[in-house]
Amino acid sequence: MFSIIAVVGKNRELGKKGGLIWRLPGDMKFFREKTLGHKVVMGRKTYESIPGGKGLEGRENIVLSRKSGDAEAIIRELACSNEEVFVAGGGSVYQKMLPYSARLYLTEVDATDAEADTFFPEFDKDKYTRVELGKGEDNGIKYTFSQYDKK
Ligand SMILES: NC(=O)c1ccc[n+]([C@@H]2O[C@H](COP(=O)([O-])OP(=O)(O)OC[C@H]3O[C@@H](n4cnc5c(N)ncnc54)[C@H](OP(=O)(O)O)[C@@H]3O)[C@@H](O)[C@H]2O)c1
Repeated sequence: MFSIIAVVGKNRELGKKGGLIWRLPGDMKFFREKTLGHKVVMGRKTYESIPGGKGLEGRENIVLSRKSGDAEAIIRELACSNEEVFVAGGGSVYQKMLPYSARLYLTEVDATDAEADTFFPEFDKDKYTRVELGKGEDNGIKYTFSQYDKK
């Protein structure tokens, strides 16, 4: 199964100028704990934005690019597995993977950013069951960890 994992602003902001918007250590810890040891699917641009140039350590990084391999075949193969495969962005990959993802882990930030240039796709919250997993605050910015499971 695919689980999307993302941090989003009040207007579904995801990123700006190729990077993340907010620096939230508590969210990074959550992301690491959830994804460690698992397969993580991401777009080529997100992969290249990860410092160090080697992707996420301790996880199998599966990078989608039109220049290498057939994304549809990769998705088909992973969709059949029983393990939880994480979808870690960015905007284009969330858009692509939303219909295939039974679960969304969204860190919902109580802030906006008018300079954002990448957004999470709109989705119908009525079609999901929401569970609140916790709350956090970093650098004066409050956020809520939510889990959405498709009904
Ligand atoms: N807030 C969050 O949780 C979060 C998480 C991750 C990223 N982000 C932010 O999101 C932004 C990047 O998002 P983005 O949408 O610009 O880029 P992206 O989704 O990370 O990467 C886009 C690239 O992925 C490849 N790709 C996408 N869909 C594909 C498909 N169907 N088949 C094959 N390849 C495909 C293409 O690579 P090629 O050009 O090589 O063909 C495409 O140019 C950054 O600002 C980043 O910081 C935010």
